[in-house]
Amino acid sequence: QYEVCKRMMKREHWGSRLGFILAAAGSAVGLGNIWKFPYMAGENGGGAFLVIYLVLVFTIGISVMLAEFVIGRMSEKNAIGAFAKLKGGLWPIVGLFGVAAAFMILSFYSVVAGWTLSYMIKAVTGALSIEDPAALGDIFGSFISDTTSPLIFHAIFMALTIFVVLSGVGAGIERASKILMPALFALLIVLIVRSVTLPGGMEGVAFLLSPDFSKVTWATVSDALSQAFFSLSLGMGAMITYGSYLAKKENLPGSAGWVTLLDSAVAVLAGLLVLPAVFAFGFDPSAGPGLTFITLPAVFAQMLFGSFFAFLFFLLLAIAALTSAVSILEVVVAYFVDDRGINRKTAAVVLGFVIFLLGIPSSLSMGVMADVEILWGKNFFDLMDFVSSSLLLPIGGLLISLFVGWIVWGKAQEEIAAHNGIVPVWIGAWGLIVKFVAPLAIAFILLKGLGVF
Ligand code: PHE
Repeated sequence: QYEVCKRMMKREHWGSRLGFILAAAGSAVGLGNIWKFPYMAGENGGGAFLVIYLVLVFTIGISVMLAEFVIGRMSEKNAIGAFAKLKGGLWPIVGLFGVAAAFMILSFYSVVAGWTLSYMIKAVTGALSIEDPAALGDIFGSFISDTTSPLIFHAIFMALTIFVVLSGVGAGIERASKILMPALFALLIVLIVRSVTLPGGMEGVAFLLSPDFSKVTWATVSDALSQAFFSLSLGMGAMITYGSYLAKKENLPGSAGWVTLLDSAVAVLAGLLVLPAVFAFGFDPSAGPGLTFITLPAVFAQMLFGSFFAFLFFLLLAIAALTSAVSILEVVVAYFVDDRGINRKTAAVVLGFVIFLLGIPSSLSMGVMADVEILWGKNFFDLMDFVSSSLLLPIGGLLISLFVGWIVWGKAQEEIAAHNGIVPVWIGAWGLIVKFVAPLAIAFILLKGLGVF
């Protein structure tokens, strides 16, 4: 009985370093990379957006990720509890913002993930074996604007997410990520080969790879910043929470490097998959959220065994979404388990259900509520996305940087160095970024993007 007790007291750990990296990469790689990145790049002129995005990712993004890992492992606590344990005062509010962002993001994320589930079925039944992109656009439009059926898939997706989270860190999250992530990578490569070799596809490659900075505005830069935070799962404590399940011996900077690299690789690959098809079929690259769901089926329809590949693609997209959704729900669940003494199963089911309810108006925003302006001229879906990705995540990232750079800097350095013997130059560079560069740059970009000055 003593043993059982001891095991219950000790925080669960990832089974291996690879397991952790894949789980964290599983969180990072998701709809943000495959669905959002290509259309954001399309709306913002392609290549220039990619360059700005990558610069932000490999300076601010990677540094905030390391900061989150450090906070997590140092405290072995959830997003709110970590700040309370390391410093207290008003700092836990940063975690509270994160939990709020988690509620919002997961609510609309699950709606879009539901679309991928429905597209798996459409692929199998042959409903997508249509070569005419305009007809595929109609299918997409009438599906997402429907009132009930997207909600059914939203419910199914939430149920899957809840199931993985209640199965726990090792048996649920880690095991799923280890199988799913490599499969996703392999399939992306196969599909890109087909997409770039479509007649006219090379134009899309050029669009993404040859930057035209003349059209860049501060809005482009702030979109790139929000996208960087969203795609890397930063600013709301997901990586704090995952870091808290990390053993003391693991190399944190190396892990942050791997996760950042994998995530940006998948975003670039997804761009190379979607944008050539957009050009080949004469779509407008700034067509928005429908891009992936409309152009890719048109690519599949032109391929041998197209329905099979379409099914496989939406399956993998659903899986990528699932490993991300799990990390978002885990932020909320970990808080209620650690600090509110609620058991994992109850927390996952109840919180997951609340998030499902919050997602309903987002789903309806594609149809009956499309023109219902909630605030700032945005409908519910757009507002949730804007407040969470464009405000809460960057602000969270700013505060996390300040916290590590100024409040726990000494301990943070020890946390990294004691176990890894890292090169001092890198710690110096990281310090410079979390202390000065990231907070200033984020604040500046946010204010510029909002048109404050
Ligand atoms: N990074 C995920 C994606 O790109 C979404 C996500 C955001 C996950 C925030 C966790 C936290 O799809």
